[in-house]
Amino acid sequence: MLTVQGGTPLRGTVSVRGAKNLVPKAMVASLLGSEPSVLRNVPGIRDVDVVRGLLELHGATVSSGPDAGNPDGELVVDPRNVESAHVADIDAHAGSSRIPILFCGPLLHRLGEAFIPDLGGCRIGDRPINYHLDVLRSFGATVDKLDSGIHIYTRDRLRGTKVQLPYPSVGTTEQVLLTAVCAEGLTELTGAAIEPEIMDLIAILQKMGAIISVDTDRVIRIEGVEKLGGYVHRALPDRMETGSWASAALATRGEIYVRGANQPDMMTYLNVFRRIGGEFDVDEDGILFRHPGGDLNSLVLETDVHPGFMTDWQQPLVVALTQARGLSIIHETVYENRFGFTEALGRMGAVIQVYKECLGGIPCRFGQRNFNHSAVVSGPAKLHGTDIVVPDLRGGFSHLIAALAAEGESTVQGIELINRGYENFMEKLNALGANVTLS
Ligand code: EPU
Repeated sequence: MLTVQGGTPLRGTVSVRGAKNLVPKAMVASLLGSEPSVLRNVPGIRDVDVVRGLLELHGATVSSGPDAGNPDGELVVDPRNVESAHVADIDAHAGSSRIPILFCGPLLHRLGEAFIPDLGGCRIGDRPINYHLDVLRSFGATVDKLDSGIHIYTRDRLRGTKVQLPYPSVGTTEQVLLTAVCAEGLTELTGAAIEPEIMDLIAILQKMGAIISVDTDRVIRIEGVEKLGGYVHRALPDRMETGSWASAALATRGEIYVRGANQPDMMTYLNVFRRIGGEFDVDEDGILFRHPGGDLNSLVLETDVHPGFMTDWQQPLVVALTQARGLSIIHETVYENRFGFTEALGRMGAVIQVYKECLGGIPCRFGQRNFNHSAVVSGPAKLHGTDIVVPDLRGGFSHLIAALAAEGESTVQGIELINRGYENFMEKLNALGANVTLS
């Protein structure tokens, strides 16, 4: 349990490393190679450990990864002895991660089969895998749903295909990429997600020998090749973590320099940060985020796929918006259930009302379907400490920010969930002058 004495502005420097939403996928991509791959800037987070465990379970050799003796976070994956693993073992190793579904393409190419357990991930919506399974079928794989999980297999080499996604899903776009690169012939993906992490994955696959073109209007074309080699790559920095610390600076009236933050990937966030009234300076090594003093501005915001305002930035920003003067409106269009975390903020004194209606400019998929996916935040609200149980990764970090912004003492339980995506966050909080103790 974490005990937080709030009310002190966070001030200082934190460093962000490779993106949580790229690094595990880059590790999976190494399975496609005939030689070892080297990934740098790997953060020490639990999602990396989960994928390391899954790779080892399949016979790959993985170096120990980021620690004191390896400051550049270099990870070497040697896939030359890959073999099948049992679904029960995969289940035990995967924990709550959704990454196992992305092993399918590489394992189908190498072994002709893959087993997938029931998948987890943060509880922020239903998070189905129907698009993934449809994609794998369209490459020619057979999908058998068993009580123990899902068995996916093929007797022949997978064939290139045409895929039209009903929604630009990040994971499904990665599924298509990781499967199409070694399939026979051409694959055309329309309605693709184009997040910076996907572009970085494409860069990795190109280094391995893949032929991928990203065309206008969310069209990606992949020419399958017979064989891929290894790669040497430095993972792009984590823009979700960068946005989280930036929102923490606003919420606590502080000033945080995020070393490693990359402006081009943060453009949409930075525009919103400026509209709220936050100040920032960009230099070669990172971005300084600062509360300007005085009142913050309320605003109307809609989350969306890239290049829109990403859903993972939404929760920490809502905490900052509790401190803005006036009414802010947030329409969450990526996940149907990402406002559950506001209940605890309400107990801390925030004034937030959630709605089933689309309160944004564009009606979204969740409009007529009974999901509380819009929120109105009224501020500034005086927050006070309370007892919190972490609900999910970003929601948990947001609760922590709220506890740091609040007057008095809070307790936070379940901080292991935050370790999934935030490297050394206790050390970072201490470096920023937060009054937190772990017991
Ligand atoms: N969807 C389906 N069917 C599918 C797949 C997705 O209906 O088969 C729906 C989802 O339910 C959701 C929407 O499509 O409503 C978008 O989901 P997407 O597939 O894009 O998400 P993901 O790949 O599962 C990744 C990140 C998330 C991030 C989203 C959106 C990883 C490991 N996870 O999830 O990160 O929110 O993209 O950018 O990369 C986080 O970091 O806190 C996090 C949840």
